[in-house]
Amino acid sequence: MEILIKCSFIALLWLSQALCQYHEYDYDTDYGPDREEENTPQFPHQVDYGLPYFPHSSDCARECLCTPAYPLTMHCDTRKLKAIPQIPSRINQLHLQHNEIEAVSAKAFINATGLTELHLSHNKLRSNKIEIGAFAKINHLQQLYLQHNDLEEIPSPLPSSLERLFLGSNKINKLRDQDLQGLVNLTMLDLCNNQIDVIKAKTLTKLKNLMQLNICNNKLHSMPIKLPASLMYLSLENNSITDIPQDYFSQLLNLTAIRLSHNKFEMVHRRIFDLPKLMELNLGHNKLHQAFYIPKALEHLYLQDNEFENLNITFMCPTMDPMNTNRLTYLRVDQNKLKGPISTFAFLCFPHLQSIYYGEQKRGSSDSPYIQGPVIPQFPMMEEDEDDDDRDDEPQYHGGYHPQYHAHEHEESDNDFEDYSY
Ligand SMILES: *[C@@H]1O[C@H](CO)[C@@H](O)[C@H](O)[C@H]1NC(C)=O
Ligand SMILES: *[C@@H]1O[C@H](CO)[C@@H](O)[C@H](O)[C@H]1NC(C)=O
Ligand SMILES: *[C@@H]1O[C@H](CO)[C@@H](O)[C@H](O)[C@H]1NC(C)=O
Ligand SMILES: *[C@@H]1O[C@H](CO)[C@@H](O)[C@H](O)[C@H]1NC(C)=O
Ligand SMILES: *[C@@H]1O[C@H](CO)[C@@H](O)[C@H](O)[C@H]1NC(C)=O
Repeated sequence: MEILIKCSFIALLWLSQALCQYHEYDYDTDYGPDREEENTPQFPHQVDYGLPYFPHSSDCARECLCTPAYPLTMHCDTRKLKAIPQIPSRINQLHLQHNEIEAVSAKAFINATGLTELHLSHNKLRSNKIEIGAFAKINHLQQLYLQHNDLEEIPSPLPSSLERLFLGSNKINKLRDQDLQGLVNLTMLDLCNNQIDVIKAKTLTKLKNLMQLNICNNKLHSMPIKLPASLMYLSLENNSITDIPQDYFSQLLNLTAIRLSHNKFEMVHRRIFDLPKLMELNLGHNKLHQAFYIPKALEHLYLQDNEFENLNITFMCPTMDPMNTNRLTYLRVDQNKLKGPISTFAFLCFPHLQSIYYGEQKRGSSDSPYIQGPVIPQFPMMEEDEDDDDRDDEPQYHGGYHPQYHAHEHEESDNDFEDYSY
């Protein structure tokens, strides 16, 4: 069931046209110890079989491997290298991950004019050993992987052609004014597992095409301000954020997923998440005790490990519109302080609700723990009814996924999005 829920949600995300360019991004395991993507030779995107013959053996760096099958890729990963080898200008994918490189000289990439993808993760890069402008010269670079290094700052300047920038698992503790300037094409920025405590107003605003921003596992005390309106995925799990300003999301109408678990929220404004495209909202492991408005498009809501004593469904769903029903399908509320069953009105107000994970509730000072037994929705759900127009846009529920009310199913894993979202 877990897998089904996960797969169905991802399948749905796939459907949304905007996600097409994220097909390589593995939402679930991105912070696993090893990104497979980097270890597996990838088929270059721009291979042109009409290319003239390249003299691989003669211009391939001595320390590296070039194969005729992938003439635009050079493999230099996992070789204990301490320096960046010579890079022929034809190369567009360079694999240097899992080495011992500490320094990057200004000249290192001077010949690498064809480079679009540079993998330098799992090295020992240090900010004070990267010469200014070392990366800026790679003027067609689109993807830069720098995670798992010892960087204390974001290298700058970076090439303005950059589309995806991975800086997770470093020691970055601040973003300077000059960082990320001019990256108008950047769509993905990953800064998880660093030590950032504050993000100033101008740093991210100018990233006009940013779609995904990950700043999980940092030390933020407040929401990063003035995010670009293009944003679709925002991940701020495991920081120390206490509140969300009332108009925070008012310019961020393209947001599809918001992950704020493991923070210090006690209250959120009632209408704060009223966003037209929001499908996933994770607020688990906070201190919330008051419900808020559930936007129409929301499908997955995680509220586990908070302080709720009851869930006021009227508050969450003040109006019912049969022509435009609420889309909520999954709700997780275990580890709260709920004292009774969730009103069956929930299934009327959220007619697509397939599953509520109620689980065990935290013990109040004087109460005995309340564990809700299985509850089946009051009315039959039309599972395999092919005539139902409403289901056409829900391919994820075909194939025998039945409505169910879980009580004890999730014990082995804390969340559907293990390794990443909790
Ligand atoms: C760049 O190419 C020139 C000419 O082939 C070569 O002499 C030089 O060593 C190369 N520099 C680097 C850093 O690869
Ligand atoms: C940004 O991307 C567009 C479309 O791919 C491209 O034409 C443009 O040159 C890029 N901008 C920069 C600064 O590289
Ligand atoms: C939260 O982040 C800290 C580092 O900032 C890390 O040590 C801790 O394990 C993380 N907690 C969770 C639940 O991932
Ligand atoms: C929001 O998404 C729509 C549809 O994908 C897109 O056309 C629009 O440009 C996005 N808005 C911003 C501000 O990027
Ligand atoms: C639930 O919310 C509604 C609407 O705000 C309010 O009128 C009602 O009193 C609340 N019910 C409970 C049990 O708190």
